[in-house]
Amino acid sequence: MPVITCIDDLKRIYRRRVPKMFYDYCESGSWTEQTFRENTSDFDLLRLRQRVAVDISERSTAGQMIGQDVSMPVALAPVGLTGMQHADGEIKAARAAAEFGVPYTLSTMSICSIEDVAENTEAPFWFQVYTLTDDDYMRRLIDRAKAAKCSAIVITLDLQLLGQRHKDLKNGLSAPPKLTPKTLANLATKWAWGLEMLQTQRRSFGNLVGHVEGLEDPASLGAWTSQNFDLTLDWKRIETLMNMWGGKVILKGILDAEDAKMAAKLGADAIVVSNHGGRQLDGALSSIRMLGPIMDAVGDQVEVYLDSGIRSGQDVLKAMAMGAKGTMIGRAYVYGLGAMGQKGVTKALETIHKELDMSMALCGKRRLADVDRDILLVPEDFEGRWQG
Ligand code: GLV
Repeated sequence: MPVITCIDDLKRIYRRRVPKMFYDYCESGSWTEQTFRENTSDFDLLRLRQRVAVDISERSTAGQMIGQDVSMPVALAPVGLTGMQHADGEIKAARAAAEFGVPYTLSTMSICSIEDVAENTEAPFWFQVYTLTDDDYMRRLIDRAKAAKCSAIVITLDLQLLGQRHKDLKNGLSAPPKLTPKTLANLATKWAWGLEMLQTQRRSFGNLVGHVEGLEDPASLGAWTSQNFDLTLDWKRIETLMNMWGGKVILKGILDAEDAKMAAKLGADAIVVSNHGGRQLDGALSSIRMLGPIMDAVGDQVEVYLDSGIRSGQDVLKAMAMGAKGTMIGRAYVYGLGAMGQKGVTKALETIHKELDMSMALCGKRRLADVDRDILLVPEDFEGRWQG
């Protein structure tokens, strides 16, 4: 086992092990990738305040997210095609999350189906919902999440249209991969990935195949879905979906204080400040920059989480110090999963936990619950001075 000291170490192994098409799918932003890059570089602009002479012998990163106990407030974000990063990837990631005591979110665009994940894991998970125009399908999807005893749904609001990622088009991204000469040449160098993939039957979109009318070619599901995303999605429809579900709801993909106010007004249990990991509106501000204004607008009305750009425990600490009640990681755990399956997800969580715990302590805090703006140094113009 190589010595893994940080998330980047996992990423290096992941890159070697997983077919290029799926590495690129994970590691891209839309168009010029400006927002994708700034999601991480803006975290670097924030600094932590070192404090000394504090008894830090007893420490805790524990907390709650939507009323659920968590060992640290870092949920696994919904990620499409996770089961292509590693055979049975969703089940493995969900198991690692449950063992670590953090929530797992299953994507609508997963490879393993809701039922499959429920049957093969113990802890309840969250289910992410893409809103499609097909109302019957939406009702059935929500009923399936209820039957699987999911403890919350996460409604994604920032993907009515799919942002263009150049590499996905060039690679001909599909699940399972289409066997062109180019793909075959790359797959030939990824034999460990391939051998595991051959041992599972879970190789196409489990929540859609067999559940959607007229779908003959599972590999074309990506294209099918993007044509069927609900362009009419508005607050009224979101409210309808929330009522259809009737349980805890997290609204994900909010990047503006006015939208945050609407989400709070609808009675969401939590919102996720997110630009979809820089995969949607290229040119949007980073999530961490938008967190402050959104906290000011709704921080006392709804739990605010942050995703997009977190690659370390220090990043988690900065987001919490800025006021977030929780965070989500996507790429950071996918690197681990692609690198070494369930063990890799555990390693990613352990790495982030260790960084979070030690950095918190070096800021003179014993409990994450006590962390506030006091430990954060924010450049004066961090939120930017934008006209209009
Ligand atoms: C879907 O959520 C994607 O970002 O590809």
